Amino acid sequence: MKNGTVWLDTDGEILQAHGGGILHKNGVFYWYGECYEKISGHYCNSGVRCYSSTDLKNWKNEGMVLKVFKDRDWCQHDLYYTNIIQRPKVVFNRARNKYMMYFHLDNSNYTKAKVGIAECDTPTGEFHYIGGIQPHFRPSHDLTVFEDEDGSTYLINASDHNSLTRAIVISDDGLHFGTYSVIAMEIPGRATREAPAVFKRNGKYYMISSGCSGWHPNAAQIHVADSMLGEWKCLGNPCVGKDSELTFNSQSTFVLQVNNQYIYMGDRWKPEVLNESGYVWLPIEFDEQGRPIIEWHEEWKGVDENA
Ligand code: GAL
Repeated sequence: MKNGTVWLDTDGEILQAHGGGILHKNGVFYWYGECYEKISGHYCNSGVRCYSSTDLKNWKNEGMVLKVFKDRDWCQHDLYYTNIIQRPKVVFNRARNKYMMYFHLDNSNYTKAKVGIAECDTPTGEFHYIGGIQPHFRPSHDLTVFEDEDGSTYLINASDHNSLTRAIVISDDGLHFGTYSVIAMEIPGRATREAPAVFKRNGKYYMISSGCSGWHPNAAQIHVADSMLGEWKCLGNPCVGKDSELTFNSQSTFVLQVNNQYIYMGDRWKPEVLNESGYVWLPIEFDEQGRPIIEWHEEWKGVDENA
C-alpha cells in the first residue's frame, strides 16, 4: 500500500476512513473514519464508515456505522448531512457494555464545535446517536480518545479556536467529562495545535499533533508527560528527513500500538476531492533517549511479525 495515495478495500473500492482511528478487539482491527460524498458540488460527510482487518493490510468494508440524515425534514438534526462529522474514535466502555464513538460534531462553518457521542452493542452495528456536548462548556474541535492500560479513558481535544489542547477524563459511563490537564496553550484566540493522536510507551504518554492550517500540511509536534493529567512538555517535531516540515504531506489522526510497534496514521488530504484523500502510515522509531522519530517510507507493509 503506497503511502500518500488512496487505498482500496477488499472489494476494490476506495477505502474511506479519513481522520480515523482503530479499535483492536478480539484479534480484529476495526478502522473507523470519515466518508465523503459530493452532493450539489460540495463534499459532505456521508457518515462514519468501518473497515475490519486481521493484518492491517486487507480491509473489509463493514458499512456505514453512523448514518447521516439527508431528508430535509431532519435539517435541524446534528447529523444532517451538511454538518461536520470528523475524526471519529471508538472505545469499548465496560460500564455500559457498549462500543462508544466520539467525534468532532460541527456545522458547516465550524461554530457548533461539540463532541458528538454515539454507542452500539457491537463494533460493526449501527451506532445510536446520543447527543453532542461541549466539555466544560467550551467549544470543542479536533479530538481523539485514548484508553489507558487501567481502562481509564481520556478525551484529547482542541478547544477555544484551537488555542488550548487538553486531556480530559471521561467518566465511567462515557458521557461526562471531568478533570483535565493542559497539553498545549497559546494566548486566547491564537490557534496552536489540532489533529491530536496519543500513545503510551514505557510509562510515558505522548501526543502527536499538527499545527493549524486547515487541509494543508504543516510541521507536527510531539508532547510528552509522565501521566495523562501531569505536566506536558513539547519535544519538537518528531519527523526527520525530506518533507519533515510538512509531516511528509500528511496530518496526524491516530497512533496504533501493536505489541511493541507504534504506527503513525496520517491523512494526505485532497480538499478538492476529499473522498480521494490518501493515507500515510509510518512506523514510529525511538532513539537511545526514547525520543520518538518518524521517517518517510514509500510503503505501508503491515506490522513486522518478528519484531
Ligand atoms: C483541519 C482539521 C480537519 C478538518 C480541516 C478542515 O485543520 O484537522 O479535521 O476539520 O481542518 O479545514
